[in-house]
Amino acid sequence: MENQEKFYITTPIYYPSDNLHIGHAYCSVAADTMARFKKQTGFDTYFLTGTDEHGQKIERKAQAKGVTPQAYVDEIVSGIKELWKLMDVEYDDFIRTSDERHVKAVQKIFRKLYDQGDIYKGSYEGWYCTPCESFFTELQLKDGCCPDCGRPVEKTNEEAYFFKLGKYQQWLIDYIEAHPDFIQPASRKNEMVNNFLKPGLQDLCVSRTSIKWGVPVDFDPKHTVYVWLDALTNYITALGYESADDSLYQKYWPANIHLVGKEIIRFHTIIWPIILHALDLPLPKQVFGHGWLVLDGMKMSKSLGNVVDPVVLCKRYGSDAIRYFLMREMPFGSDGQFSYEALLTRINADLANDLGNLVSRTVAMVEKYFDGVVPQHGEWDENDRALIALAQETPAKVLKRMDELQFSLALQDIWQLIGECNRYIDVNAPWVLIKSEEGKERLKTVMYVLCECIRVAAVLIAPTMPRTPARIFEQLGVNDASLCSWESASRFGLLPAGTKVQKGEALFPRIDIKKELADIVPTPAQPQPEKKPEKKPEPAKQAEDGGMITIDDFAKIQLRVARILTASRVEGSDKLLKFTLRLTAEEPERTVVSGIAKFYTPEEMVGKQVVLVSNLKPAKLRGIRSEGMILCASDAKDETLKLATVEPGMEDGAYIR
Ligand code: ME8
Repeated sequence: MENQEKFYITTPIYYPSDNLHIGHAYCSVAADTMARFKKQTGFDTYFLTGTDEHGQKIERKAQAKGVTPQAYVDEIVSGIKELWKLMDVEYDDFIRTSDERHVKAVQKIFRKLYDQGDIYKGSYEGWYCTPCESFFTELQLKDGCCPDCGRPVEKTNEEAYFFKLGKYQQWLIDYIEAHPDFIQPASRKNEMVNNFLKPGLQDLCVSRTSIKWGVPVDFDPKHTVYVWLDALTNYITALGYESADDSLYQKYWPANIHLVGKEIIRFHTIIWPIILHALDLPLPKQVFGHGWLVLDGMKMSKSLGNVVDPVVLCKRYGSDAIRYFLMREMPFGSDGQFSYEALLTRINADLANDLGNLVSRTVAMVEKYFDGVVPQHGEWDENDRALIALAQETPAKVLKRMDELQFSLALQDIWQLIGECNRYIDVNAPWVLIKSEEGKERLKTVMYVLCECIRVAAVLIAPTMPRTPARIFEQLGVNDASLCSWESASRFGLLPAGTKVQKGEALFPRIDIKKELADIVPTPAQPQPEKKPEKKPEPAKQAEDGGMITIDDFAKIQLRVARILTASRVEGSDKLLKFTLRLTAEEPERTVVSGIAKFYTPEEMVGKQVVLVSNLKPAKLRGIRSEGMILCASDAKDETLKLATVEPGMEDGAYIR
């Protein structure tokens, strides 16, 4: 195994939060699935995760609880490790930024950058956003607030160290252009180059004197290292970079993939590569920015109160079902909706019906028709050959999908095989075949093909669903490891005739969805103005009121402050403009089409705050899905139109009530 290819994959290191939600689990499950897949296909794999523990946010939380930051994070981290255990997230190492091994290495990195002149001492005057752990200059603020999340910022003025990011700007642009796979999906590459790199990089403030809970700069200990510089380096400090034993670093760096959520791709594709290059180290081969799991249209986030607890889900439905759902439901790279209904439907349709039934009825038939012994097959007919060919092709298809991180399509390919097996049963109708001697001979082949296809499917689902294959193999009577390996999946016919099957429990019991939905506590969608229970307005009463509406009627309309990020004309229309709007940083951006092209140019709209009817049912305008309506005032003749807006200083996403 000396020449085995290496594969190093990482998740972001998580902020210690006492309840990581299913959105966090999404990233870890994806990384774990990929790591398992690479291991299965023969790579020497290393999978790193961990926690990002320093910074003002933690310092303040610990203070509020009356404990030290270390004690505060220690407790939370053990909860996070429990969660990964529950979800079968099997990492090779868990790095904590409060680990001494990390702290020491960060100090060395900082000193090295200082000694070579990439970090210099200056003084910082600016603004700090605590939730985002980010500094901004006056110019970067949006209406006096954080340009990323819209929350208030705090003024800071202090001596600080700076990192010369600007010096490496052109190098990075060239690097990104020369390495098209570095930033994935490709759309994110343009965003980074055009929105951040080309406008110019300012030197980055990389130390603070007012934050104590951080890595001290060893040659100037009143400073602590900026949390992102501290956090990003985890990917190499965990491997022993700048330590007495850097053998893991030598073996695994550069990483093959950093999996990160789309909101932190900027840190990973601008700051991180520049740090590495300044240190004269190779860059990770790929940074993949995945989408968000959203609930009711909003990014799941604790501050919005719309989180779904993975612990509850795993205990209720089993971690394999949850992992399957996460990897199957949304294309990796795009945002995906979480809903209990979608989850339960997938469990019933794909797991209980398609897979579970296939296994249970096949095993039951082998028991009933052949005393539980897998029969010797005869000659293949056309039907058999088609299914066998599909089984033989599926591993290669899965391999290709996985190499592109298309988890969902890989599972779709496996489920195609499972679906074809079910159809094969229906077409061959074993219950009819068994009625004649000739039919019984044919049935031997049918049952053999089915058992063998199930074995192949069980091998292929293993990275996503690590627990289920063993349960299937047990029912199939397979206990030879070589029949469970990746190599064996594309070699049809390995299952020996004579294997004794054994019926077991249903792999995934069917769920009564209606009952279950009523049972699980509904998650509040988003902070809303207090509402009384909705009463339908009575038409007669409305007429009596002369068209007046009640406060309850008004409460149905959600009006929010939104910021226009991009604007363009809609082709073929002289009335319509298309906008991308931002509410809060946690929510996905919205596309809205509005009939104001005669009154405003796209250029003058960008950056404006507008009032958005944010809970309007989406509608298609000229084939574009418009998600809300921008309010305007217009004169009686519709000749003058002006945007409705709010006084400056209001954060994006604010509710108008
Ligand atoms: O960003 N859907 O940590 P974090 C999908 N400490 N992914 C989600 C999600 C959702 N609803 N919510 C969160 C940090 N995530 C930094 C990283 S790395 C050097 C430092 C993902 O705990 C999010 O996109 O806020 C991110 O990739 C990961 O969870 C950790 O988020």
